[in-house]
Amino acid sequence: MPNNIYVTRQIPLSGLDLLQRELGGFEINTADKQLSKTELKAATKGRDAILCLLTDAIDGEVLDAAGPQLKIVANVAVGYNNIDVPAASARKVIVSNTPGVLTDTTADLAFALMLASARRLCESERVLRAGKWPGWGILQFLGQDIGGKTLGIVGGGRIGQAMARRARGFDMQILYSSRSAHSEMESIGARRVLLDELLKQSDFVSLHCPLTPETKHLIGAKQLAMMKPTAHLINTARGPVVDEAALVEALKTKKIAGAGLDVYEEEPKIHPGLFELENAVLAPHIGSATTETRGKMATMAAQNVIAVLKGGKAPNAVN
Ligand code: NAP
Ligand code: GLV
Repeated sequence: MPNNIYVTRQIPLSGLDLLQRELGGFEINTADKQLSKTELKAATKGRDAILCLLTDAIDGEVLDAAGPQLKIVANVAVGYNNIDVPAASARKVIVSNTPGVLTDTTADLAFALMLASARRLCESERVLRAGKWPGWGILQFLGQDIGGKTLGIVGGGRIGQAMARRARGFDMQILYSSRSAHSEMESIGARRVLLDELLKQSDFVSLHCPLTPETKHLIGAKQLAMMKPTAHLINTARGPVVDEAALVEALKTKKIAGAGLDVYEEEPKIHPGLFELENAVLAPHIGSATTETRGKMATMAAQNVIAVLKGGKAPNAVN
């Protein structure tokens, strides 16, 4: 029954076309706007499948409102911290995500943020756009080289590895910290160390772990104090992995040199202190935002819904 699939917000057509072709239809929130919890509960009531975005908080209350017939919640994102997976498992609901297809795209953005922060790109562009550039000067906007420097990668998974591959091409030394060893990292030449050592030794620290109870505020005032005063922090993982207030303080007092951020603790709210800092490069959660990649993510989420509603296994189930 087509109406038993609910898509919580507009997604690329590749995913919608596939659902239409394979399952005969779906219902969708056509507004490109996040539903409130009340709207989400009402819209998903009686559905067999929910195809949702990382802005939708799918908790036990939403799952109960959907009802016991619900079979799958397919997230159009690799991170799935917006879904209460144990609550879904307890109700025998499959949760799926979109791993792999966004790895390179997200690593590209992390690398771009690292370069932009190191080379003060956004700060200098602001001066130019304000008509305040007096002309070339030998001491203007001096940033830092990345070649020969040490990159510390937190989270040795897919995107962390893609970041390491890029860093190799720029002649960087690479450290990583992860709960387990990753042979792919070792073969790129990355050395596994404890987080504290990584923070002390790295010139650039890039976060690529998921948001879990264990990684919430993994980087706080204590960890920022361990970093070099010349170091930069790059976060394309999830906002709450970093204590944003502590980061603002560290950037303001020059305990670290800069930050490149794509994610924030309470999106879309941003700590007001960040706006005042010249040494923070701020992107609006665009890690996977290319036409090609977002299309692949939508297709992948739809494939998971189709597999489960046709009685098969979700190829990207996380529970
Ligand atoms: P992944 O392949 O699962 O890699 C994440 C790695 O983090 C895992 O391999 C895991 O390795 C490690 N990890 C887990 N807990 C850790 C901890 N406490 N300390 C250190 N490392 C830990 O996932 P991915 O595809 O690379 O994606 C990573 C994250 O990036 C996603 O969860 C998402 O939040 C974020 N992301 C953001 C964007 C964006 O638009 N900005 C786009 C895509 C993804 P161990 O088991 O060895 O610890
Ligand atoms: C984006 O943030 C994702 O997790 O896919």
